[in-house]
Amino acid sequence: MTILVTGGAGFIGANFIRYWLDAHPLDRVVCLDKLTYAGNLSTLRPLLGRENFRFVRGDICDRDAVDALFEEERPGVVVNFAAESHVDRSIEDPGVFLRTNVLGAGVLMDACRKFGARRFHQVSTDEVYGDLPLDRPDLLFSETTPIHASSPYSASKASADLLALAYFRTYGLPVTISRCSNNYGPYQFPEKLIPLMIANALADRELPVYGTGENVRDWLYVEDHCRAIDAILSGGRPGEIFNVGGHNEMRNIDIVRLILRRLGKPESLIRFVADRKGHDLRYAIDPAKIHAELGWLPETRFEDGIARTVDWYLENRGWWEEIVSGEYRNYYERMYGGR
Ligand code: NAD
Ligand code: TYD
Repeated sequence: MTILVTGGAGFIGANFIRYWLDAHPLDRVVCLDKLTYAGNLSTLRPLLGRENFRFVRGDICDRDAVDALFEEERPGVVVNFAAESHVDRSIEDPGVFLRTNVLGAGVLMDACRKFGARRFHQVSTDEVYGDLPLDRPDLLFSETTPIHASSPYSASKASADLLALAYFRTYGLPVTISRCSNNYGPYQFPEKLIPLMIANALADRELPVYGTGENVRDWLYVEDHCRAIDAILSGGRPGEIFNVGGHNEMRNIDIVRLILRRLGKPESLIRFVADRKGHDLRYAIDPAKIHAELGWLPETRFEDGIARTVDWYLENRGWWEEIVSGEYRNYYERMYGGR
């Protein structure tokens, strides 16, 4: 079987490709990635020589290139990770989010129809549900929670979900959708909370915490997300949405303090900065459906996963220092200079 993984040079896609080649060594994996600022081919370098792995640089919005790749590879399954994924960047410049996250998903689904893929899986996010209040811990996102996106990023992801469901209903395209909570683990680009705080702490730079740091995210180790997608591909019914999360809600400030403690750095590095516009207060996933229907449960406890992640960033400084020294720095100045 050939599986096409788009966005596989990014954080979750790269972890997924490694996971898939281990779990399904007889499959062929083709990765299509544009290598935007967030894509890093060095993450996939160890796989590049393998016979059952192919990397193709390309844009999911480029219909001719996508069709040509489908014609050549005839993927049975397509998993779409390719996206602009950073909320702060979407607030700065929404246009590219609409292009990649909505139009790109549409181009891939058209190719799936044209070349007869037996599954299109859209990797979505819990952010499509908007946020939950901080003082109602009883409330969780279920698959029937109405879509209520807050940022241009989450609105673009919600749009792709609606398009996928419309392709299922209208054309019978066998789509599935996963809506996962915040991921953490190796190879995450150091603009997202956890790797940014680790990198800054190691360099004795300030740790910029938005607002009061009381916003809550529901963290899942990236490998558990990969296993959830595998479970959906093998057992999930087409047309269905699956929420993915591990009941692991944490306040941002507590994550930042935990990272500082683990690195033996002082809390005086924390700096509270102006809040993100439209900042979602709390995300919390109810994963009852994927557990009941597909038997999926997370395997990594947060204490273990965060320790492993901090150690990974310590042992793989070359990977992220290369990133931090590049284009990322200009972005960093724009985002935090004068804040
Ligand atoms: P990422 O930003 O690390 O990686 C995105 C990848 O997509 C990069 O390799 C980039 O080069 C590629 N890409 C961007 N535009 C492209 C285009 N037009 N054509 C081809 N490739 C393109 O993102 P991530 O954190 O790995 O997230 C992957 C997916 O999972 C996204 O769809 C995101 O919405 C979703 N998601 C992420 C999280 C999270 O916590 N990171 C949680 C839930 C869902
Ligand atoms: P992020 O990793 O950008 O993920 P998302 O916004 O998609 O959940 O941010 C996680 C949380 O951390 C979010 O509440 C915003 C906050 N945050 C900071 O406080 N400081 C930062 O520098 C960043 C990047 C995020």
